Amino acid sequence: MDFVSQYKGRVDQALEKFFSYKMAGKRGIEKEAISKLREFTMRGGKRIRPLFMILGYWLNSDIDDKIVSASVSLELMQSYLLIHDDIIDQSEVRRGGPAFHKMFGYADRVSEGVSIVCADLSDAFSHEALLEVDFVPDRLNSAMRLMSEIVEQTGVGQLMDITLSLGNDMSLDDVTAIHKYKTAQYTVNGPMKMGATLSGYRDPEKIDEYGIPLGIAFQIQDDILGMFGNEKELGKSVVSDFEEGKKTHLILYTYEMAKRGDVEFIKDRLGKKGISGSDFQRVKDIIENSGALDKTRELANSYYEHAVSSINGLTDSPTKRSQLRAMADLMVRRVS
Ligand code: IPE
Ligand code: IPE
Ligand code: MG
Ligand code: MG
Repeated sequence: MDFVSQYKGRVDQALEKFFSYKMAGKRGIEKEAISKLREFTMRGGKRIRPLFMILGYWLNSDIDDKIVSASVSLELMQSYLLIHDDIIDQSEVRRGGPAFHKMFGYADRVSEGVSIVCADLSDAFSHEALLEVDFVPDRLNSAMRLMSEIVEQTGVGQLMDITLSLGNDMSLDDVTAIHKYKTAQYTVNGPMKMGATLSGYRDPEKIDEYGIPLGIAFQIQDDILGMFGNEKELGKSVVSDFEEGKKTHLILYTYEMAKRGDVEFIKDRLGKKGISGSDFQRVKDIIENSGALDKTRELANSYYEHAVSSINGLTDSPTKRSQLRAMADLMVRRVS
């Protein structure tokens, strides 16, 4: 079995075990909350962050049950970040089903309140899942410190993401900075550095050269799929980024490259709800025909190449090198 399928399966088992332990003896709203968190967390998810944590650990150690159990913490973190993100972005679909705040039968405002608190629970669980694994205390301490840094950076990135699109002067550099903060740190770089730290890897800082560009490439691909992807495969909406007014590389390149009338067509519709199917198709055609889609793909590819060129500096092992490359491929060639 390949690395991804093998360890994704083990992470899923460890997650199930964690939720069973949390559910034991619970009643009432607490039981409902944890069972909804379980349902949401187990419904899908590529488990990228645990996989990068395991890869980081593997740089200096054999893979064992301890790192698989610890990696569960990152999926619990992913759950709370996604729950908040879907409320912020008003996204109703996630992982092929209802977004978390659409999984309750309460009035909208109550469901959102309940969901925000469920996300807080998942935050607490993510700390618990990491702390209960028996690692050398110094290493565990450093990994916890990294986890705090990741969450702080993700928060800063989300704040930038929410506010910068409101103005008219958002630059391409702003978009890249948002990608670095809101996605790269918590998706690739931080998880890998946490794993490396837990295994006593000598130079975790070197991982930045792989983790940050690859995380940025991953988010650019997310933005491409968020308009040009297949909603069924992706499990989330392909119009919500546009309706939310997200100024991605795709949009900013189109502003630079498309004809004036076409740019106006997009500006008139970006950030408004209820775009018709034919107008949205025209928006996509403009982005594609102006060359902005290709340019965005090239940008993702240049970050990918940067990440790949750093692999040899991370490990001498041919097997590990090829797995790091395979993971990089997966980040940018993915369709879901
Ligand atoms: C979604 O992350 C949020 C982003 C940073 C783009 P994933 O694409 O890893 O989502 P799941 O966990 O596989 O559902
Ligand atoms: C999500 O970013 C990043 C998080 C911190 C969760 P997006 O809002 O771009 O991701 P999707 O498209 O909803 O998954
Ligand atoms: Mg979102
Ligand atoms: Mg968002």
